[in-house]
Amino acid sequence: MTKPVIVLGGGGHAKVLIAILRRLNCRLLGIVDPNQTIGQLVHGLNVLGADNAIFDYSNTEIELVNGVGSLPKDKGLRAALFNTFNAQGYRFKTVIDPTALIAEDVELSHGVQVMTGVIIQVGAKIAENTILNSGAIVEHDCRIGRHVHIAPGAILSGTVNVSDHVHIGTGATIIQGISIGANSIIGAGSAITQDIAYNQIVYPPRPRIESIKEQ
Ligand SMILES: CC(C)(COP(=O)(O)OP(=O)(O)OC[C@H]1O[C@@H](n2cnc3c(N)ncnc32)[C@H](O)[C@@H]1OP(=O)(O)O)[C@@H](O)C(=O)NCCC(=O)NCCS
Repeated sequence: MTKPVIVLGGGGHAKVLIAILRRLNCRLLGIVDPNQTIGQLVHGLNVLGADNAIFDYSNTEIELVNGVGSLPKDKGLRAALFNTFNAQGYRFKTVIDPTALIAEDVELSHGVQVMTGVIIQVGAKIAENTILNSGAIVEHDCRIGRHVHIAPGAILSGTVNVSDHVHIGTGATIIQGISIGANSIIGAGSAITQDIAYNQIVYPPRPRIESIKEQ
């Protein structure tokens, strides 16, 4: 039997996850969030308190869902919460939206979040606490590290290797066989055709914006 769930964080990412968890008929105990008031309803769930309210439950009776999102330069909190509660023996639920298409042999570590409409092809391996956001495509034999965020609509062609703490921006495209070094940021809409080293930021070309001349 699946265990009841506590969601960490009450922001936008948590809101989408809660909608998925409801579709999966999960038993939701509530939210922990230091910025909300105990007893308040957030996204239809009770606020149980700050993060340490989790310790009111033993690590064998509940599972956690990391609802804290991850932005390119603001991804530390999500990883830190995962590491803190994981070290205390709490298990982070692997969340898979029912609309995702996942090949049979794909390996998803605990705490991976596969959001609406994601496709993951044969031979792919995804490490813990990584987000595959709405509509992302991960092609065959990709390796994706821990605490990675593949943002909405990003496409990884076959055998792409993504190291830990990487952000692949919305709608970015990575061609086959590329490696992305740890902690790097791939800007939204970039097309990546060469390996990216550790701790790099990739800015895509900027669109040219002009005022339309009056007729
Ligand atoms: C690439 C990205 C990370 C840059 O973010 P940022 O650093 O906050 O961007 P800024 O607009 O503040 O630009 C920072 C600097 O880079 C420069 N820059 C930005 N885009 C550039 C480009 N395409 N070419 C050259 N320089 C650029 C800016 O001029 C600025 O320089 P300055 O500090 O001298 O003014 C961001 O545009 C992006 O793509 N984020 C991904 C968002 C995403 O995936 N969201 C998913 C949510 S679910």
